[in-house]
Amino acid sequence: MKTKAFRMYKVGGPSVLKWETVEVLEPGRGQVLLRHTVIGLNLADTYRRRGIYKVPLPNGMGNEAVGVIEAVGPGVRGLKVGDRVGYVGGGALDAYSERRVANAAALIPLPDGIKDRTAAAALLKGITAQYLLRDAYRVRKGDAILVHAAAGGVGSIMCQWANSIGATVIGVVSSQDKAKFAKRNGCHYPIVSRTAKFAKQVREITGGEGANVVYDSVGKLTWNESLASVRRRGTLISFGSASGEPPKVDIAATGAMGSPFMARCALVNYTTSRAELLSRARDLFRTIESGAVKIRVNQRYALKDARKAQRDMEARRTTGSTVLIP
Ligand SMILES: NC(=O)c1ccc[n+]([C@@H]2O[C@H](COP(=O)([O-])OP(=O)(O)OC[C@H]3O[C@@H](n4cnc5c(N)ncnc54)[C@H](OP(=O)(O)O)[C@@H]3O)[C@@H](O)[C@H]2O)c1
Repeated sequence: MKTKAFRMYKVGGPSVLKWETVEVLEPGRGQVLLRHTVIGLNLADTYRRRGIYKVPLPNGMGNEAVGVIEAVGPGVRGLKVGDRVGYVGGGALDAYSERRVANAAALIPLPDGIKDRTAAAALLKGITAQYLLRDAYRVRKGDAILVHAAAGGVGSIMCQWANSIGATVIGVVSSQDKAKFAKRNGCHYPIVSRTAKFAKQVREITGGEGANVVYDSVGKLTWNESLASVRRRGTLISFGSASGEPPKVDIAATGAMGSPFMARCALVNYTTSRAELLSRARDLFRTIESGAVKIRVNQRYALKDARKAQRDMEARRTTGSTVLIP
């Protein structure tokens, strides 16, 4: 069977993404054939396209999508033709496609109350928010937390979720419009800064103490101010590199900086088994169904326009989640 999909033969700007007709094989052992209904766009797609995250070439694009099972390979249990499922990684990068073969072990069955569009916009970003707020650092009522890119896909979910836990949510955004959007999403103190000056304000908001936890997805540009924003023995989490990789850490020097705990957190290390993946997805679905977190799908593009979607995201023109429709 033939399908339409993006393929990438070299790294570079959006034009390296080629919209092609490709062959889809029959699903093998443990695999299913999926027809995508909605695909999630993530900033990490652009890191892979640019070569910041290394992937073998040629390759496909994307690791978050939702679809309907059209055929089931041998050895697959618990899934059948017609089931609605989603995924975050768990196989080849091939989400930017109309149809694909996917590993059944990576698929997340979708509850009836969760629409395809919501799931495609929320699975990767929401499971990331879940593990960051629940595990990487366990946010408690009364904590002060700092979220970078607070109006973005992950950021807008984190702000709502942390607010519902009872944290004081401080966010960094690049414009007044984004500040308004972040505020609507439960960010108590949006700080507008394009030049990564925010530590002084974080100290003021927290009565001089600093934040209990800083979630830094911007990296190179913000790291030192993030370090200056975290309280003594607080936690500083790097989870993205929107402005480039954060600098190397001189661990001995952190003694004079209040001895913060630091880690680079990656989704793959928090979804290490099927049971862990499904448990985090269930927590996310429950939180969405409770109304504590609303998934804001603010941009939709036809799948074939994925190059434009990536360009807009890189230019910081998007807020909330972005989806591609095959
Ligand atoms: N480690 C993990 O497990 C994991 C999983 C998922 C996502 N992430 C990371 O989480 C972050 C958010 O991902 P997302 O897909 O939801 O994207 P997003 O937040 O919707 O979009 C990225 C935002 O980052 C901000 N930004 C700051 N500096 C930037 C720069 N130099 N270039 C582009 N954007 C810049 C922009 O917001 P402002 O204009 O307001 O600054 C932009 O809107 C990304 O860094 C991503 O890599 C990590």
